[in-house]
Amino acid sequence: VEAPKLVPADGVYAAQVRVGSTPYSAALSIGTKPTVQNDGPRTIEALLVNFEGDLYCETLTVDCTRYLRPQEKFASLEELKQAIARDVAAIG
Ligand SMILES: Cc1cc2nc3c(=O)[nH]c(=O)nc-3n(C[C@H](O)[C@H](O)[C@H](O)COP(=O)(O)O)c2cc1C
Repeated sequence: VEAPKLVPADGVYAAQVRVGSTPYSAALSIGTKPTVQNDGPRTIEALLVNFEGDLYCETLTVDCTRYLRPQEKFASLEELKQAIARDVAAIG
């Protein structure tokens, strides 16, 4: 039997992601990526700032620390890219 799951509301969050005992600041996106797909599956993506390396098979602990904005459907990938750059700037 699968354990029950609760996922925070769709949106973009500031987050802290721990890899083992090392914390990284991250921009977290929860949603269906309306800019790139219609009615696709909900995904959870964490963009780790200042991380280099490989996380395959690692267990990550993700804490949402602050809600930044809703998921948006941008008119172009360029606008999405700029929004993500602002998100990363906002998490400091
Ligand atoms: C910080 C952050 C914010 C994001 N915000 C949005 C958003 O507002 N709208 C959207 O459609 N996708 C958003 N995305 C998801 C991007 O569409 C996704 O990362 C990109 O398309 C790459 O997806 P792929 O790795 O599946 O190719 C966000 C992703 C990140 C990391």
